[in-house]
Amino acid sequence: MPADDISRARSLLQAAGRVLVFTGAGVSAESGVPTFRGAGGLWKQFRPEELATPQAFARDPRLVWEWYAWRRGLVAACAPNAAHEAIARACGRAGVLVTQNVDDLHERAGTPDVIKLHGSLFVDRCSRCAWSGPAAPVDATSEATLPRCACGALLRPGVVWFGEGLPEDQFERAGHAAEACDVCLVVGTSGAVHPAAGLVHTARAAGADIVVVDPGETAFDAIAAVKLEGGAAAMLPRLF
Ligand code: OAD
Repeated sequence: MPADDISRARSLLQAAGRVLVFTGAGVSAESGVPTFRGAGGLWKQFRPEELATPQAFARDPRLVWEWYAWRRGLVAACAPNAAHEAIARACGRAGVLVTQNVDDLHERAGTPDVIKLHGSLFVDRCSRCAWSGPAAPVDATSEATLPRCACGALLRPGVVWFGEGLPEDQFERAGHAAEACDVCLVVGTSGAVHPAAGLVHTARAAGADIVVVDPGETAFDAIAAVKLEGGAAAMLPRLF
């Protein structure tokens, strides 16, 4: 990694009045949470259409719950890494954090306000009415043991599935932050999933400099002012 690139990125961040940090699964990779795409990614091992769509839940809610209960356990056993911690410190000063992640590692690292575009693994919500609340333990041994809402319908994980809209309030706040930022720091996301990925293009179109931290290729490499090819836990503490 050329030292020049790190110092250019650092100068951009230092000069910026407003920084938007936009994260994806890669920021949690070094904590032990698997990413979705690439080697070892969840979508290499599992089929999203069987586990992460409303149709999959209607067809086999037990299977879907089993998978999400496994992911909850996996994340609960992980701890925030140096990247989550550096982001928490930076956002405590003059930054806004928007994440696509459904884990809770940014919150556990102490980021004051996390805009979550794809919901949370640790929220349950009703598959029929508007109820939502903190996740309760799930017994996914049979359909009869799955959690139910007071209205009688099955509860479901509080995450956004393929084919569903993003939470409007969160997406609107993220859009305003993208339009207003001077630097958009993109960490650990392939940029494959829209509309979330569109925020980085919104920031660029509004004049922001894009800084990308990712060891692999991303959809944002062509519009990045600086691309830092490396792991987030090593890079982020060097930037702030
Ligand atoms: P992806 O799995 O698509 O991309 C992960 C990115 O992290 C890749 O660009 C990797 O190169 C990078 N990466 C791997 N290790 C890293 C490390 N140590 N440090 C920094 N980066 C690293 O994950 P997302 O872009 O987050 O949707 O995926 C977007 C959405 O697709 C997810 O939110 C999820 C998924 O389907 C929903 O849950 C709705």
